[in-house]
Amino acid sequence: MLTTEQIRTFGHAGFVVLRSFVGESLLAELDEEVDDLITRKPAPVDKVGFHHYFEPIPTLPVADRVLRDSGVLAAAGGLVAPLAIDHAFDHIQVATSIYGWDHVPGGGHVDGYGIPDQTEPFSFTVLAGIFLGDESEARRGNLWVWPGSHFTHQRLFRERGVDALMAPASLGGHACLLDDAPAFGCGEPVLARRGDVILAHYLLAHNQSGNLWSPLRRIVYYRLAAEGHRGRWAATHTDVLREYGPVRAALRSVEP
Ligand SMILES: [Fe+2]
Repeated sequence: MLTTEQIRTFGHAGFVVLRSFVGESLLAELDEEVDDLITRKPAPVDKVGFHHYFEPIPTLPVADRVLRDSGVLAAAGGLVAPLAIDHAFDHIQVATSIYGWDHVPGGGHVDGYGIPDQTEPFSFTVLAGIFLGDESEARRGNLWVWPGSHFTHQRLFRERGVDALMAPASLGGHACLLDDAPAFGCGEPVLARRGDVILAHYLLAHNQSGNLWSPLRRIVYYRLAAEGHRGRWAATHTDVLREYGPVRAALRSVEP
């Protein structure tokens, strides 16, 4: 269960890192399944940098079980109660970063854009990630985030409409590339260790960075949606805490 402070952090920053959340026995099982996936589907020999796997949920049964048995799904649910939460789509993502890519992102994006023939974004509610390695310093393939950018996106959608990022100029969800782009401030690497968990708002601007530390950085991501999300996706763009009742309550309870 999340503390009120963690819920407030999520509300303000758009993400929270839960330290030492997943136990070593579940991590070891997850390692084994991820190892098997990477062995079955190796990256091209000369590849460096990011290499992602979007795998059907039934093919990663351990990852799906760990989401539940570790309490990660329940923790995400604690942000949207009384709404239920579960997978938004049919996949689990294993994100890897192969040693040798020296990159610091200059801007962030929102997932679910840049998909051929789409008429609306493939939005969801919460991104949950389980760290399998040590990303306690930068340049380790860390996820980069722009704290508070869920509110920047909210302002963008209120001012320019919920289709603002459907424009080709966004190159797949990058508000920072639009004409008169809103100011997102400075991004920062998420620093986390094996067993930590990140919960991030769907509209948190984020990106990937280079790995000059380990042979293969690995993290498992789950895209989660509150029940009924598809029917209210547009409302969640202009009211970013719409599905987050406990977050609204925690922010309201802050003493002046
Ligand atoms: Fe992304």
